[in-house]
Amino acid sequence: MIRIETERIKLKPIESNDNEQIFKYRSDSETNKYQGFIPKSLDEVDAFIAKNATEFNQPESWFQFVIIEKKSNLIIGDLGVHFIGNDGFQCELGCTLSKKHQGKGFATEAMKTTIDYLFKELNKHRITASIDPQNINSIQLLERLHFRKEAHFKESLFINGKWVDDIVYGLLKSEWK
Ligand SMILES: CC(C)(COP(=O)(O)OP(=O)(O)OC[C@H]1O[C@@H](n2cnc3c(N)ncnc32)[C@H](O)[C@@H]1OP(=O)(O)O)[C@@H](O)C(=O)NCCC(=O)NCCS
Repeated sequence: MIRIETERIKLKPIESNDNEQIFKYRSDSETNKYQGFIPKSLDEVDAFIAKNATEFNQPESWFQFVIIEKKSNLIIGDLGVHFIGNDGFQCELGCTLSKKHQGKGFATEAMKTTIDYLFKELNKHRITASIDPQNINSIQLLERLHFRKEAHFKESLFINGKWVDDIVYGLLKSEWK
């Protein structure tokens, strides 16, 4: 069992009975307007949970955690880890917080402790994140964590009915303090 936690939060593998709490913040289409996954029903959340990898660190898989605030024991967001390719050295991260829990440093904390785990415990070499250039909060989150902007792809993703740009941020193990 992986233990990724800080003083304020802990990460837990997503489970089927998390569906209602996840639906509440993930269905908020304004907050999540740059995301591909905006569920319209609990069924869509159930499908999202069902396709989660059963084991952490499996090649070519996404593993989804929920972020739990220790004080309330409630789910305040989620964090996905994409294990890219078959060589086992690269990951991509994605993080979502409920609107109510933004602006308090929870995403920075969840990402920081996960990055630490991936570089130090699993010896990953490079971590990336792919975001919409208009997603200012995410850009600030990544830059706060010292990710570097590596690429800007023009209209490379079709999300929520339109072609959008995609920027890729990267961080190497050798750059992580
Ligand atoms: C991306 C996202 C998770 C970032 O959330 P966030 O709340 O901005 O980031 P954090 O939780 O790290 O909070 C940082 C803010 O809290 C403040 N803060 C307060 N207490 C803090 C603490 N103890 N530590 C760090 N920051 C703290 C920071 O100053 C910062 O405020 P600012 O934005 O005014 O500068 C959020 O915007 C989101 O869920 N967006 C929708 C989903 C999405 O598009 N995800 C992108 C896919 S990667």
